[in-house]
Amino acid sequence: GTPAPMTPTGASTGLPPTANGQQGDYLTASNGARLRDTDHSLKAGRRGPTLLQDHHLREKITHFDHERIPERVVHARGTGAHGTFTGYGTADGVTRAGFLAKGKETPVFVRFSTVLGSRGSADTVRDTRGFATKFYTDEGTFDLVGNNIPVFFIQDAIKFPDIIHAAKPHPDREIPQAQSAHDTFWDFVSLHTEAQHHTIWNMSDRGIPRSYRTMEGFGVHTFRLVNAAGDTTLVKFHWKPKLGVHSLDWEEAQMLAGLDPDFHRRDLYDAIESGAFPEYELGLQLFPDMPDETFGDIDLLDPTKFVPEELAPVQLVGRLVLDRTPTNFFAETEQVAFHLGNLVPGIDVTNDPLLQGRLFSYGDTQLTRLAGPNFAQIPINRPHVPVNDMLRDGFHQQAVHGGVAPYHPNSLDGGNPFEAGDDEQAFLDVPVTVAEAPKIRANPVSFDDHFSQVRLFWRSMSPVEKEHIVRAYTFELAKCYEQTIKERQLQCLANVDPELCEQVATGLGLPVPKPTKELTEETPSPVLSQIGREWPSD
Ligand code: HEM
Repeated sequence: GTPAPMTPTGASTGLPPTANGQQGDYLTASNGARLRDTDHSLKAGRRGPTLLQDHHLREKITHFDHERIPERVVHARGTGAHGTFTGYGTADGVTRAGFLAKGKETPVFVRFSTVLGSRGSADTVRDTRGFATKFYTDEGTFDLVGNNIPVFFIQDAIKFPDIIHAAKPHPDREIPQAQSAHDTFWDFVSLHTEAQHHTIWNMSDRGIPRSYRTMEGFGVHTFRLVNAAGDTTLVKFHWKPKLGVHSLDWEEAQMLAGLDPDFHRRDLYDAIESGAFPEYELGLQLFPDMPDETFGDIDLLDPTKFVPEELAPVQLVGRLVLDRTPTNFFAETEQVAFHLGNLVPGIDVTNDPLLQGRLFSYGDTQLTRLAGPNFAQIPINRPHVPVNDMLRDGFHQQAVHGGVAPYHPNSLDGGNPFEAGDDEQAFLDVPVTVAEAPKIRANPVSFDDHFSQVRLFWRSMSPVEKEHIVRAYTFELAKCYEQTIKERQLQCLANVDPELCEQVATGLGLPVPKPTKELTEETPSPVLSQIGREWPSD
């Protein structure tokens, strides 16, 4: 038929307003030329060879050939949702972050994930879960990149490549996909006793959540809040699910991994689509900002320690409702890029050596994963406030910047963008004092206690929870090929609790080791003594 008249799509720049590839009524090539036939390649006669000059064929296949981008080096398997965060105003006294003000509504995007499996792995494996939230606030984007376990395996970011190399599938056989059941994992955690705390949480029911809707989230590190007067408070962030915390039974988790490997992904999507919107409350544990950055005997810079809620209650400061599923998994869930450096006025970092390394790692990996330095321009990553950043050019630059002087100050571009003064809502680096000290590769000595909180966790469990933990250690360790690794891990368990060790050793048919000398001395746990009450012995 007669083609319809061409209509201009350009704005004043002469460029289309969006590059979404779905404009107009006609199928086109990427240059906008209408196509007569996208079903047959161009050939020399019906039975002849395909012609190299068929640009449409080559473009279609070339683009397809490059559809995949690298999966995340960790947390590759994830699922996302949009929602709204509403502040309660209860945090006004401790932070000037505007999104926590009473009644303030902020759009968010959340990505839940497993850590170790690849993009196509099963959802219900025993693993830590990621709980990463992007708040598109009026003061810039704030990313809270947390997990469902309040502590981490290591105390220094320089160990992150080591723990991940040990926890990912064996380099030779690429198994197991996403479980803790292998030699390198147990080799690492038995050699690095600081990992025992995170590991016992993994071996507990926390390692197999029922749903992303029934999972807590933790910022893990201690952050520093600053209020309007400039007063600072140390803080740990918590998400509390409205439905409470629920887990799968191990047999259920194993069956589901076969019957429905998308179980958590489907659950989140179906819940939102049916109007059962997942809800969480954001809570803060607050600690006085003392020069030693400790709370009681707990070093707040040590990410392998948590602070029991009995000592510092979680104070609720806002509510998150997830009410919209992504339109396009790739554009939103895959391309979202979280970064701990995305902070807003009122929230700053501390010297936690794990947090300090994360501040480097995320943006660095995204340079490769999202191919260049302009991933903040991808729709899901765009701030919901004006951006005037003087960053220029680079791979996949989408902006057409005007002016000639992308530097500050300048006298050519008709006035410079303003720098916000101290009294305005600008980000403030809290001027904490940095101690004058020799350069050193060492941890604070307080980081050396690797067992008291593991013991605290074990002793706080109910009998059925303890039974699950024993079964999990036994199941996972039984899969190790190396006897010495099983024995070394049993030695770690002996140092946690004799009953736990004995039960796992019996399950494995191995001798029960004695605690090492250091731990036979009945030193009271610093944490237990602060709580001031006995925890049930079983
Ligand atoms: C990804 C949490 C420690 C490097 C993630 C994600 C989460 C997370 C939730 C997934 C983000 C998403 O959904 O896109 C945590 C927590 C940690 C921790 C809670 C400790 C408390 C570290 C450390 C490093 C690191 C120490 C490196 C030094 C990465 C990298 C990614 C990642 C490279 C992939 C990011 C991407 O490709 O966009 N982490 N992580 N993480 N994490 Fe961590």
